[in-house]
Amino acid sequence: MEIPWVIEEHTKVKHQLLKSYINPWMAILFSQQKRMGFPERLFYFDGFSGPGIYYEDNSESSTCLGSPLIVAEIANKYLDANSKREIILTCTDNHGGCVNMLNQKLTEMNKHEQRWKAYHAEFDTAINAILDLIEEDGLNTSPMFFFIDPFGYSGFPLSTIERILKFPQAELFINFMIYDIIRFCEEKQFEENMEALFGCKEFKKVSALNGEEKQSYLVNLYCKQLKNVARAEFVMPFRINTPKQGNRPKYYLIHASKKFKALKVMKDTMAKISDSPYSFVAIGISSQESLFENPDKVSLRERISKYCQDKYPDWIDYSEIEAWTYSNTNGISKTIKEALIALEKDNALNIKRKPRQRANTVTEGAKIVYIG
Ligand SMILES: C[S@@+](CC[C@H](N)C(=O)[O-])C[C@H]1O[C@@H](n2cnc3c(N)ncnc32)[C@H](O)[C@@H]1O
Repeated sequence: MEIPWVIEEHTKVKHQLLKSYINPWMAILFSQQKRMGFPERLFYFDGFSGPGIYYEDNSESSTCLGSPLIVAEIANKYLDANSKREIILTCTDNHGGCVNMLNQKLTEMNKHEQRWKAYHAEFDTAINAILDLIEEDGLNTSPMFFFIDPFGYSGFPLSTIERILKFPQAELFINFMIYDIIRFCEEKQFEENMEALFGCKEFKKVSALNGEEKQSYLVNLYCKQLKNVARAEFVMPFRINTPKQGNRPKYYLIHASKKFKALKVMKDTMAKISDSPYSFVAIGISSQESLFENPDKVSLRERISKYCQDKYPDWIDYSEIEAWTYSNTNGISKTIKEALIALEKDNALNIKRKPRQRANTVTEGAKIVYIG
């Protein structure tokens, strides 16, 4: 493997998502820790870290940052603002060349003398040893972000994901390489790896399905396992298509967490980067003009209406509708508000706003009731 390698279009989208999320992740958690009088300390783990840089194009004349250094750059901004803060960056890669290059770059960027280090190790062995140390040091409740970005689909068994999610403030951002998984999941020789990935044998049912069905079955199965076995409360996938191959998926970036706030910030981040307003997807999406209303928009409105109908005759807090919609549908604040206002106009809902709340929006404090 030549190091570094040239960055691809899909990697840029992945980095954009990571960067746009890690920024508010640091801001929100530091301010929470400060408010509660806790030490301002965050852990970032890059499990399949790569060398930290990429060539920007085939001319190999300029470079851009890879995931661990993108995070190091953001970390420096928060450390510049308050040098008492601690951001522990731990990286692992099983390629010695990547680790050497990354350690050199991390040292150059580490102006606040933080614990920033890359280890030459297999992710699964290293992360379990690191989690043992965190437990020994009694740091279990610290906020932790784990980026799992392999080349393939092995080396991060569901049993390890389950262990990570036992830490109450752990979040995972997993690159689920659906393209490769579909290619290999029916071959006998990869069965053991697949079973470790999914933590079950149900993936074998794909044999009875066709192409499109296979990919949604496998992504849904993995998301289901993240919830049911690894005990993630919230799971949010973002689809990245294969460049120049229409809407054929290359991988899904899946965020798993235990906190609603984490889901909300990640979903808002994904929505900003998505090429489509009611789904979470990038690359290969053509914006087609249609005579008809977007069916995803219609379905969101119908689901919110049904949720309110099921609660009839109770008045429901806007924040309850928002929390349910974020967790169970494609909605985010903007589209939830649009749906509620459309339903109000159709006389399907009544919205009681607080004094001084504007009639053309719905927000925290408003109460909603179904009227049919
Ligand atoms: C997709 S690249 C990572 C890119 C990096 N996350 C970024 O965005 O800049 C995957 C990396 O995982 C490493 N790798 C593959 N299998 C591994 C394993 N089992 N444990 C640790 N690293 C592994 C490879 O050497 C490679 O550098």
